[in-house]
Amino acid sequence: MLVEKNVPLQPFNTFRIVAKAHTLVRIGGEADLRAVLADPVLGPAEKLVLGGGSNVVLTGDVKAVVLKVEISGMRLLAEKPKAFIVEAGAGESWHALVAWTLAQGYPGLENMALIAGTVGAAPVQNIGAYGVELQDRFESLDAMDLHTGEVFTLNAAQCAFGYRDSVFKHGAPVQGAHQAMGLKGRALILRVRLALPKPWKPVLGYADIERKMLETGCRTPTPQQLFDWVCTIRRGKLPDPAVTGNVGSFFKNPTVTPEQCADIIARDPKVVHYHLDDGTVKLAAGWLIDSCGWKGKSVGQAGVYEKQALVLVNRGVGTDGEGATGGEVMTLARAIQTSVYERFGILLEPEPLIV
Ligand code: EPU
Repeated sequence: MLVEKNVPLQPFNTFRIVAKAHTLVRIGGEADLRAVLADPVLGPAEKLVLGGGSNVVLTGDVKAVVLKVEISGMRLLAEKPKAFIVEAGAGESWHALVAWTLAQGYPGLENMALIAGTVGAAPVQNIGAYGVELQDRFESLDAMDLHTGEVFTLNAAQCAFGYRDSVFKHGAPVQGAHQAMGLKGRALILRVRLALPKPWKPVLGYADIERKMLETGCRTPTPQQLFDWVCTIRRGKLPDPAVTGNVGSFFKNPTVTPEQCADIIARDPKVVHYHLDDGTVKLAAGWLIDSCGWKGKSVGQAGVYEKQALVLVNRGVGTDGEGATGGEVMTLARAIQTSVYERFGILLEPEPLIV
C-alpha cells in the first residue's frame, strides 16, 4: 500500500478546483483496501471515496483519507436469454465502458454515453441521461464496508435508487436498503454488474433525440447511431471537462405538486415541466436559472455556462491563475438558489457532493 501525502487534487476533480489531500491511497483492489482498514492510523480515520471526481465540489483541503478508486477490468460475465450481464471494476471510466459494450455487441448504455466519471460512481448518483437511468440497466454490485471490511452484494432494490439518488447518499436509514441503513461514507463500491437487455430496443422519447430523428430522417437508429447522436447532443450543450472545469448539472431538477406548478405557470407560462407517473411535476432547473438571467454570469472565476444554465464552470482553467475556488463556486451556487427561490419559491438542491 502506497500512502501519499499532500497530494494536489486539481487533476482528480473535473471542476479543476485547487485543493490538497492530506493523505491519499490508491485502491487497485480489495487487498489495498484491507491494508488501509488494518492500518492503526488510517483504519479508524474518516474517509472520502473518490472516483473520477466528476461529482464533487472541493471547498478546501481534504482532511479525510482520500481513497482513490482505481479498480479496473471489464468482462462479459454471462449471456442469458434476455440479457448480457457485464461486470466492470469501479475505477473504469464510465464512457469507456459504454464504448466497450457497444464495440463488443452488447448495446443498451448508449443514451448514457459521455457521462463523466467512473463506473463505481454511477450507482451512487444513479446517473442518467436521455430517458435511461443506471437503475434501468443495473444488475448488482459488490462493495466493501469501510467499518468492518465485509464485502457485500446489493441488488437494485437494496441500492434504493431514486432520481440522482441511492443508499450511498444517505447516512440515515433508507427503506429496503442494506442493513436498514444508509451507506454514505461507509461503503466503497468495488465492482458493478449491468444487465443489457436482449433484444436491444432504442430509447427514443427524449426531445433532443426526437429532434435528431427529424433532422436525419432516421426513425430506427442502430445502437451506434444513437451513441453518436447522444455524443453530438452532449458536446453541443455541455462543456468538455477536459477543457472547461465542470461537474455536469449542478442542481437537481426539482419536483413540485400540480398546484405549485399551476401557480408558476400562471406567472410564467413558458416554464418547462414534465408530468411524472406519480402525479408530481418535474421542473427544468436549467430553465428556472436561465429565466432568472444567470446564463454567462460569474462570481470570480466560477461561472454559469453560456449554453446550459444548469452547469457551473471554472473559467480559470488554462489561465495563469489557479482558477475558481470552491468558495467562489459555492457563493455563485447560493446566489442562484436565492434568486430562484425569490422568484419561484423553489429551493434548488445541489447535485454534487460538497466536501
Ligand atoms: N433549459 C433552458 N435553459 C437552460 C437550460 C435548459 O431553457 O439554460 C431548458 C431546455 O430547453 C429544456 C429543459 O430546460 O427544455 C431541460 O434541459 P436539458 O434537456 O438540457 O436537460 P436538463 O434537465 O437540464 C437533465 C440531466 C442531465 C442529462 C439531461 C439529458 C439533471 C439534473 N440533469 O438535464 O444530466 O444529461 O437531462 O437527459 O437531471 C447530470 O446529471 O450531470 C447531467 C448532465
